[in-house]
Amino acid sequence: MGPEFSHMGDKREDFPLQNYYSDIYKSYDRVNHIFTFGRDRHWRQKAAAKCLDAGPKQILDLCTGTGDFVLELAHRAQENIQLTGYDFSPDMLAVGREKYTRISELKEIPTIAFVEGDVGDMPFEDNRFDAIGITFGIRNLVYENSNASRHLSEISRVLRPGGELIILESSRPDSSLWRFFNTLYLQLILPYLGGMISGNLKAYRYLASSSKNYYSMGEMGTILEEAGFEVTSGQPLFLGSVMLLVANKK
Ligand SMILES: C[S@@+](CC[C@H](N)C(=O)[O-])C[C@H]1O[C@@H](n2cnc3c(N)ncnc32)[C@H](O)[C@@H]1O
Repeated sequence: MGPEFSHMGDKREDFPLQNYYSDIYKSYDRVNHIFTFGRDRHWRQKAAAKCLDAGPKQILDLCTGTGDFVLELAHRAQENIQLTGYDFSPDMLAVGREKYTRISELKEIPTIAFVEGDVGDMPFEDNRFDAIGITFGIRNLVYENSNASRHLSEISRVLRPGGELIILESSRPDSSLWRFFNTLYLQLILPYLGGMISGNLKAYRYLASSSKNYYSMGEMGTILEEAGFEVTSGQPLFLGSVMLLVANKK
């Protein structure tokens, strides 16, 4: 029997996701590094290597936030590549732009266009991108989100047929023992420490609870298949608390 995605399509109109990021953007990177024991950098490096494998020329980093993934692509990519970071939080994007300016003063890297907007309504033409990466963002787009289907169909619209979607995200571990410790960590530590460092307990309660309740890698794969993608690889990281999924648009 397939998994049930009961919260895809639930109405949470008052959900202040955008505001959360505008409240925590200053401490977002620091909290990320602390809570993943610094592993988040390594995972983005892995995702960037996968993303560049097939030699894409136009890459979109969705939910780019403070830009760490698109900057990792810029470090590794050839000069003739076109990189776009897209996000609806102007504050997160401003941090990304600052990092880009700082780095490009020291080193020659490809230009990155940081574009503000909602994934549910993107200003890009059909089939524009050869590859799309989403690191720690798909959860925001499909978990308890009334626009989940819209987000997935927009992603599919702007990716060219055969183009790759690379997803790095939290996942529910298969091992029940590890799931137990993972849940304790996400329930008892992340919200309070994240809340303390950022000053916004609510935002970290959401981030921790959406991580804790998020799909397993198999369930995420099924969601992608139902949205018209073919999953070509899936790698569990950190004992399955994180997944690296690659899917092609059919
Ligand atoms: C957890 S952060 C991930 C940031 C970054 N990709 C990383 O690897 O750390 C999620 C980002 O998704 C953005 N986001 C959430 N929903 C969005 C939407 N519907 N459209 C555009 N951006 C969205 C938020 O503003 C936030 O910057």
